[in-house]
Amino acid sequence: MRKPLVAGNWKMNKTVEQARELASDLLPGLQDVSAVERVICPPFTALLPICAMLKGTDIGLGAQNLHWETSGAYTGEVSPAMVKEFCQYVILGHSERRTYFGEIDETVNKKVKAALEIGLTPIVCIGETLAEFEAGRTAEVLTRQVLLGLADLTADQGGRIVIAYEPVWAIGTGKAASGIGANDVVAKVIRPALSSLFGEDVSSSIRGLYGGSVTGENAAEFFGQPEIDGALVGGASLKVLNFLEIVKAAAK
Ligand code: 13P
Repeated sequence: MRKPLVAGNWKMNKTVEQARELASDLLPGLQDVSAVERVICPPFTALLPICAMLKGTDIGLGAQNLHWETSGAYTGEVSPAMVKEFCQYVILGHSERRTYFGEIDETVNKKVKAALEIGLTPIVCIGETLAEFEAGRTAEVLTRQVLLGLADLTADQGGRIVIAYEPVWAIGTGKAASGIGANDVVAKVIRPALSSLFGEDVSSSIRGLYGGSVTGENAAEFFGQPEIDGALVGGASLKVLNFLEIVKAAAK
């Protein structure tokens, strides 16, 4: 059984004060839904204060990135150990990082390894662009992202990741994939690629999330699918009622 997981990716939003306010509005509702693994991923600057607020709860905290080196002259970067001081999870390979900050499968792979080595759970994002989707290249692109992004992990390490299928054309556009469409991609493309790396047992134990314009209204359509084990939520994770609705839908 794969426990459902819903993570809120706050992206580059919220000052410390605003983040505190959002977290304190979310907390009571989130604490009620223990059947779902709930994770919030604020920006780096808010991790310390939010970590303090989450003490004594079973709500997880995640960062949105890290650097693979342990320390040194990497101006502007944050190391795995620095993230581990506050977090249990880290989002890696998000399409916004690939698009705007030059991340490629090889750097995602280094980050995934570094995160696993320090004991963080990587939420590894993959997804095809609109042009790739329209050219019928979805399977090819996702398979490459899985095989290169997760290259050289042991099966045990593979079993500790979470994969998030986020079609780039669905992110922030209000045009979510269909539940059936996303399920198909996870079942026919992503799990077979994971199987080829880690074997079928490990592949079938890895949580597969969907991300891209998930809202309180459409969440149930995704969670009703056998291969979709939760969601990585952007815009709607900044709205208290909407995010709580998504989390509750995952519990059903
Ligand atoms: P939206 O939910 O805003 O489409 O963003 C999805 C996402 O990128 C989560 O990582």
